[in-house]
Amino acid sequence: MVDICWEQLHRSAIEVRQNAYAPYSHFLVGAAGLVDDGRIVVGCNIENASYGLTLCAECGLVSHLIATGGGRLLAVVCVDSQDNYLAPCGRCRQVLLEHGGKELQVMTPTGPLPMAELLPWSFGPQDLRRVGGLNTNP
Ligand code: THU
Repeated sequence: MVDICWEQLHRSAIEVRQNAYAPYSHFLVGAAGLVDDGRIVVGCNIENASYGLTLCAECGLVSHLIATGGGRLLAVVCVDSQDNYLAPCGRCRQVLLEHGGKELQVMTPTGPLPMAELLPWSFGPQDLRRVGGLNTNP
């Protein structure tokens, strides 16, 4: 059982935000996630001259998660340049859902919410499993 320390996640998100690459929007984002083995994984946004190719901070976080051995995300915090909590964009909610499920706790400006509330009626691995023959085991 891993306890969620929101203050620590907030600090980690602020720290990694220093490395954000956002020369176009100047909107710096940092994200930190607690893994079920106690690890903290982080990411920052990485923009691109081809704007649509921008990678959100949460994508970097998930990349860090997988590159360091995987696991399930228990809690995620994203911050903007003023240290305010930032609710993940729609695409990132889907990306995070894959690795934390509906129980994943996500900090929002009004407090933590489970992914089930941030992304109701979500599409996920269970939908693939419903269709016979698909092997979705990792
Ligand atoms: N951004 C994130 O990193 N995460 C989000 O959930 C929302 C948006 C980034 C993408 C872009 O670099 C900047 O914020 C402005 O949209």
